Amino acid sequence: MIIRDLAPGDFDAVWRIRRRAFGGPATPGPSWPGDPATFRGFVAESGGEPCGFLRIRRMGQFFGGRVVPMGGLASVAVDPHARGQGVAGGLVAAALEAMRADGQPLSALFTSVPALYRGRGWERSGVVERVELGMTAFRGVPGGKYTLRPLTSSTLDELRACYLELACDLDGMLAGHTPSGDPDLGSAVVDSEGKLRGYVALDRRDGELDVHDFVALDQEAAATLLRALGSWAGLVDKVRLRLPEPDVVSMLLPDAGVRTVEPWYLRVVDFPAAVAARGWPAARFLAEGTHTCVEIVDEHAPWHAGTYRLVVRDGTVHCVQSDDRPDVRLHARALGPWYSGAVPTTTLRRTGLCTGDASVLDALITSTTPRMLDSF
Ligand SMILES: CC(C)(COP(=O)(O)OP(=O)(O)OC[C@H]1O[C@@H](n2cnc3c(N)ncnc32)[C@H](O)[C@@H]1OP(=O)(O)O)[C@@H](O)C(=O)NCCC(=O)NCCS
Repeated sequence: MIIRDLAPGDFDAVWRIRRRAFGGPATPGPSWPGDPATFRGFVAESGGEPCGFLRIRRMGQFFGGRVVPMGGLASVAVDPHARGQGVAGGLVAAALEAMRADGQPLSALFTSVPALYRGRGWERSGVVERVELGMTAFRGVPGGKYTLRPLTSSTLDELRACYLELACDLDGMLAGHTPSGDPDLGSAVVDSEGKLRGYVALDRRDGELDVHDFVALDQEAAATLLRALGSWAGLVDKVRLRLPEPDVVSMLLPDAGVRTVEPWYLRVVDFPAAVAARGWPAARFLAEGTHTCVEIVDEHAPWHAGTYRLVVRDGTVHCVQSDDRPDVRLHARALGPWYSGAVPTTTLRRTGLCTGDASVLDALITSTTPRMLDSF
């Protein structure tokens, strides 16, 4: 088996591999496979024919208020006749090396086959959260003072800037995001000076509103947008919202609705680079010189296996290789949940993925539920 970069001559064959796994029309649309600048593809070839495919989307994810380059693994597919022979494993190994070489210290993915990725260092580290609400839930929402406008009154750049103002405070959110849905149905809210403070982007189908984006920069914006959604009562039965901050909505509405979560998995591909790239807000409250020595155990990414000294200096964390005796040992699978703040080390210890004194590691990361609005 050969694993190699995707070439233009592979586009049709790779579409068919992808289609056999995930469905779709027999021939690709004009946008397939997308802008080559936004991803790197790998093909597995056996007997001279492509039999497997994977792509790494070039993305960025907010952690600690900074954008960390992240490789989003997607479209992982192997032809039925070639399954069970290590093809996907080979593709994922190639992707790991490529992400390290391309300066992506993190990798995230959504999966229906967790075992394939967990065995290679990815672990559940955040969620896409949805809330489903009946129309009665919107009764009695306090009136927001902002003005509602059609979504189309704002430019894409204005909507993206609004999203980014919210996303930069929320660990896990993607830096690149385009509102989706029917632009004619969406709404925007502006303050008394006409400044955009939030928007909803949505679709309507089968008596339901599907809200892809609910972006509200403050309580007035959230209340105004919720009232706008409530105004659909009588025309739709339900609203399904994909939420960056579910508590903002549940604290404004009398009914918390039914929440569902879709997990995403994270892997640290290059530990020193991941430490250097993120922000460390909690470090500002730690004494200068606070330090710990961490051993990383990672058979699938041997380039960063070893011992590092993490030191708090000037409100951030510095990472250098060290010969000191480690205070704490982290298995590759523990890195994503620790780095994202999704799982405290007390819990990681009980899974056997963390041993030793992890008190400084806990102090460095604020425990949270990392989120995304996008699935990919
Ligand atoms: C999932 C898929 C990519 C696996 O490809 P493959 O070439 O058969 O996988 P490999 O032989 O390389 O197996 C790699 C590992 O994943 C595990 N694995 C593979 N398919 C699995 C499945 N369906 N359920 C659980 N584990 C699975 C294997 O046991 C193996 O584990 P190991 O490393 O501990 O030995 C392939 O079955 C496929 O294309 N399925 C349809 C599309 C799909 O589900 N894609 C994944 C979306 S995230």
